[in-house]
Amino acid sequence: MSALTLAFALICTIFPLPLISSEDLSTNYEYFTADGITSGLNADQRDFLLNGKTITIFSGAFHYFRVHQSQWRDRLRKIRAADFNTVETYVPWNLHEFQSGVYDFGKGGSDFEAFLNIEEFLKTAQEEDLFVLVRAGPYICAEWEFGGLPSWLLREDGIKFRSSDPIYLKYVERYWNQLLPILEPLQFTKGGPIIGLQVENEYGSTGNNDSAYLEALVKLYRDNGIKELLYSSDSPFSGTRGSLPDELLLTANFNSDASKNLNELDSLQPNRPSMTMEYWSGWFDHFGETHHIVDVDTYSRIYEDILTHPASVNIYMFVGSTSFGFVNGANMGTMGRDNSGLEPDITSYDYDALLTEAGEITAKYNATAALTAKYNPVKTKLPQIPETPERVVFDDIKIEEQLLLSEIIDDFPKKIESENVVPMELLDINNKSGQSYGYIVYRKTDLNLNANAELLIKGYVRDTVLVLVNGNLINSVPTSKDALDQFGFWKLANSSITLTKTALKGATLDLVVENNGRNNFGNLDQFYQFKGLTEEVTIDGETVKNWQIVPLEFKRSWNQQLSGWHEIKERNAVPALYRVTFSAKAPLRDTYINVQDWRKGIVIVNGFVLGRVFAIGPQQALYLPAGLLIEGDNEIIVFEHFSAPEYVKFSKDVIWGVGTHIQ
Ligand SMILES: *[C@@H]1O[C@H](CO)[C@@H](O)[C@H](O)[C@H]1NC(C)=O
Ligand SMILES: *[C@@H]1O[C@H](CO)[C@@H](O)[C@H](O)[C@H]1NC(C)=O
Ligand SMILES: *[C@@H]1O[C@H](CO)[C@@H](O)[C@H](O)[C@H]1NC(C)=O
Ligand SMILES: *[C@@H]1O[C@H](CO)[C@@H](O)[C@H](O)[C@H]1NC(C)=O
Repeated sequence: MSALTLAFALICTIFPLPLISSEDLSTNYEYFTADGITSGLNADQRDFLLNGKTITIFSGAFHYFRVHQSQWRDRLRKIRAADFNTVETYVPWNLHEFQSGVYDFGKGGSDFEAFLNIEEFLKTAQEEDLFVLVRAGPYICAEWEFGGLPSWLLREDGIKFRSSDPIYLKYVERYWNQLLPILEPLQFTKGGPIIGLQVENEYGSTGNNDSAYLEALVKLYRDNGIKELLYSSDSPFSGTRGSLPDELLLTANFNSDASKNLNELDSLQPNRPSMTMEYWSGWFDHFGETHHIVDVDTYSRIYEDILTHPASVNIYMFVGSTSFGFVNGANMGTMGRDNSGLEPDITSYDYDALLTEAGEITAKYNATAALTAKYNPVKTKLPQIPETPERVVFDDIKIEEQLLLSEIIDDFPKKIESENVVPMELLDINNKSGQSYGYIVYRKTDLNLNANAELLIKGYVRDTVLVLVNGNLINSVPTSKDALDQFGFWKLANSSITLTKTALKGATLDLVVENNGRNNFGNLDQFYQFKGLTEEVTIDGETVKNWQIVPLEFKRSWNQQLSGWHEIKERNAVPALYRVTFSAKAPLRDTYINVQDWRKGIVIVNGFVLGRVFAIGPQQALYLPAGLLIEGDNEIIVFEHFSAPEYVKFSKDVIWGVGTHIQ
């Protein structure tokens, strides 16, 4: 310690100052690598060693694909400023291989391009003085569509996900042979930031017990030149069945009873380091729930219990973020696996994390930084916490332009002819990858309907359905959370509705079915993941055949070419798109779109699907990061299933609760 730091330390004792790091301190990388790099992360004894030096890992979970690239550095610096030395991330297969054999790692031209440059993310993490833990999946859970698996895998009849099924493994291998060469040069022992990689995720919860699968993943890593430490992550009470005890370090996931969980972990591998791979700082929300909060005191007590065990830790989530577009996941609920128990997640992945969805510092962040400073034995140079720019609230915009959904269906150029209804994944579109997300319309024309004709949809709707007869909506408009128990939603089996009171000739029937997000947890049985209609549709007991199918994917290029906008014809009980434009000036700022006055649908900004709206809550404002805006004119389109208000409104802050039309 130099005389200067000693003096500084003395002053700090007398006049406690905020944690200003002395310029004399080394950076994280200097501390661990100043004399060259000879070895990576080592877990062969009770403490982790990195390059031969003892390390306690203080890691924060940050899903790069849930934050616009323009904000990565801000969030990374905030992690580092809390005295953390590591960032942990997952990798979403379904975004990176958005069609079978077609990839986007940041320049691939998919709608998510600005979220996918993983190489840039890893390099930025290193520039911000952080090591990286990569959880490459292929399954990632993460409250993410299908746990990260691409929906086009469903086209392989009989495929068994998360297993050593050769069909499944063939696709894993093809994808990892693209992904791992990007990671390989960025390993710690090659001078990069990656100190460890995970194999699968909570595999002990599947009941599959397929160690040949885990062995195959390890082999793929090693065959692609991955040399750093490999680990698994599970509840320690799953035992070792989600892991390979001799090859993978076991790590633990929990949010209570730190010593019970970590003692259990230690009993499974007594002479290895203890690490909590997911310490849940908050929780996620399903539609219809109250927003989850974990109070700071409870959180801090358990965080301290982890540090004093002592154990390394990854805070899940450190960075609150967003499941933009259609890529929120879902649970299958306690009611079984028949879609009646579907619990789709909301768009926000705020998670009550240390940084909010909008990147703000929380009291939980401050408490974490204070405890980390107390227990992190290695003092290094820390950055200042970056300022979070003020958000802007644009003026309310009166909605003047509309396109009825029935007009879009009428004008859709290439309707697909099909004898029977089929799920979206099996359509021969997108280079034979099928439809992954959005809505699928089943149209039947020239129907002669009797008075009180009864429509029956066999099985379960996956996941909501709007029924139009000659363009008129038959469903009732939801006014309470009980709507989920009624026709039009996923809970009902064999659901039916009366199509018309009087007889009709030459009628057109549209069934507009919405995919609300695929299950992301468990063993992901194939049948239950299909979206759209999977069984028969009858009218007065007779099977309806020969449909026209319209995939409504709401891809950016399609959204931007929509034409034929007209003045508002009718805003009540009619599914329609509404368009407004507004001007944004530099410097562009974040905002929220206030959706309290809407019922159900999606919001699209400059062609990009921002997220989902549903008045049953809990989310009533959609985060709109500046990176999705442009200087000058910006366009917002709202697709509303039921009834629209007169204005598009904004909000400075997040809004939790139910919409204004829900009792
Ligand atoms: C279609 O898919 C194949 C792989 O299945 C891929 O090689 C090819 O590039 C794709 N074509 C287009 C136009 O995306
Ligand atoms: C997996 O292992 C657990 C515990 O060892 C056991 O209860 C379960 O039956 C096994 N499942 C299969 C499919 O073998
Ligand atoms: C976090 O700590 C900073 C610095 O002490 C303080 O200015 C800020 O108000 C705190 N934030 C919260 C949400 O407690
Ligand atoms: C739906 O109806 C079929 C008969 O058409 C019946 O076999 C099935 O059990 C019903 N499903 C449910 C969940 O009630």
